[in-house]
Amino acid sequence: MGNISYGLENRVFVITGGSRGIGLEIARKLLDQKAKVVICGRKQEGLEAAKTKLSGGAGLLTVQAHVAKESDVENLFDKALENFGKIDGLINNVGMNIITSVVDADYLLWQKIIESNLNGTFLCSKKAGQLMRGQKKGKIVSISSIAARRSAPAMGIYGIAKAGIEMMTKVLAQELAPFDIQVNAVAPGMVRTKFSEPFWSNNDIYNQVVKTIPLGRIAEPSDVAHPVLFLCSDASAFITGQTIMVDGGASAI
Ligand SMILES: NC(=O)c1ccc[n+]([C@@H]2O[C@H](COP(=O)([O-])OP(=O)(O)OC[C@H]3O[C@@H](n4cnc5c(N)ncnc54)[C@H](OP(=O)(O)O)[C@@H]3O)[C@@H](O)[C@H]2O)c1
Repeated sequence: MGNISYGLENRVFVITGGSRGIGLEIARKLLDQKAKVVICGRKQEGLEAAKTKLSGGAGLLTVQAHVAKESDVENLFDKALENFGKIDGLINNVGMNIITSVVDADYLLWQKIIESNLNGTFLCSKKAGQLMRGQKKGKIVSISSIAARRSAPAMGIYGIAKAGIEMMTKVLAQELAPFDIQVNAVAPGMVRTKFSEPFWSNNDIYNQVVKTIPLGRIAEPSDVAHPVLFLCSDASAFITGQTIMVDGGASAI
């Protein structure tokens, strides 16, 4: 699979939350394609560690940013433009969850989950959409989740936010279609990253989850990164407003 060419040489991509997990793998694959990559995260040490892991040289820029803070998002895109001169694609990868039932969540907790997942995706997509509209070309890909379509205990607010991201994908696809900008999402089931480690590292939970997945395993970050690169490429020029399930068939049965 390493040799697939997506034709992304010298294209510039901003990946939110690219310092570990799925975002880091998307960054690695984009750099392998000789694209230019900007990653952000809240913690500088995470970004430094990612820089070492990716060895992207001049093709990689890291910017400390919280996606739900408008001034951070402005700075992220300003730095990306200063450094690379254009933005061809945005990958809204940031996501977080705090385990709670909806009915017991206090308002601050609700806001925290909605902010990082939904508000962050809004702020970054708005900024990228405005820039790309001027260029009359672009791609926005967001990472949703199977939790957007299937109620999961302790992931309720997260699932509600992800459902919002899927609707935002359709709305932006329509708004930006006249400018040749495609807006899509991918919705993974469980992926082996830090985010879901409490689940996949527990054998009982892992076995229970795998029973619901026809392909018989959970996803690795590269299972998600490949469809994202496809959606960033010219090969997906006539696909917009869609969410591709990347769940080993779990939602098909
Ligand atoms: N792993 C799964 O099982 C799974 C399944 C379905 C969907 N997803 C989705 O896939 C995406 C990536 O998840 P992952 O598993 O790779 O997560 P992860 O391992 O926890 O990585 C999250 C990344 O986002 C950054 N981040 C978190 N909040 C941020 C914020 N407010 N502003 C800027 N950066 C922020 C983190 O860096 P800092 O901590 O330094 O900010 C880190 O780089 C998320 O949208 C998640 O919801 C994951």
